[in-house]
Amino acid sequence: MSRKPIIAGNWKMNKTLAEAQAFAEAVKGKAPSADLVDTVIGSPALFLAPLAYNLKDDVIQLAAQNSYFENAGAFTGENSPAAIADLGIEYIIIGHSERREYFHETDEDINKKAKAIIANGVTPIICCGETLETYEAGKTAEWVEGQITAALKDLTPEQVSNLVIAYEPIWAIGTGKSADANTADETCGVVRATVEKLYGKAVSEAVRIQYGGSVKPENVAEYMSKVNVDGALVGGASLEADSFLALLDFVK
Ligand code: G3H
Repeated sequence: MSRKPIIAGNWKMNKTLAEAQAFAEAVKGKAPSADLVDTVIGSPALFLAPLAYNLKDDVIQLAAQNSYFENAGAFTGENSPAAIADLGIEYIIIGHSERREYFHETDEDINKKAKAIIANGVTPIICCGETLETYEAGKTAEWVEGQITAALKDLTPEQVSNLVIAYEPIWAIGTGKSADANTADETCGVVRATVEKLYGKAVSEAVRIQYGGSVKPENVAEYMSKVNVDGALVGGASLEADSFLALLDFVK
């Protein structure tokens, strides 16, 4: 089965509104056709509304970097998945290792968020990945299988077919030290095998799996050539418009 590639920038907690607007103006009309690749900008929540209303073109999609698992209520400081959906945002990144580490998000939280996001018609990008210690102990496969099994609990086959999973080894994030393409492919393969074990072959062949961790214009094509890698979740190299656009050159 052929899966459409998906390149998503994750700006993390960077940029002012003026910088976000300048970026959007710089990339407008320059990304490849949406028939070839899904192009996504993961913006801080503050800039999602202006980007969605004023600057989005038909090609570039938007992602929130997190949401809560309730749609409304007394949850000071949180962002509602229903409100994000109402802005027309296509994706919400959940379970990023920075949120797991600094904000103590658990597998159970991530599963609740996935359900709430899907219920609002938005696509979750569910992150998983191991620490350096787990990698060096040779326990990456069992760690990632555990994270994915917990994140997908009680989701239907159709829901899983349509979501995106990002494998991001923590030791490769923002370190300049990327997992080589074969290692990335192997662990994305573990993610796919986990989905197959839980939901069967057709679902595992439909779900899109990204690699993330020091992806840049110079190495993205090599990752994208791998059978189990359907895209990239990119931090540092997504911050400048030229570099972001260059990440998409592999489709040419
Ligand atoms: O969400 C993106 C990842 O954390 C990767 O970040 O490309 O700066 O290594 P990076």
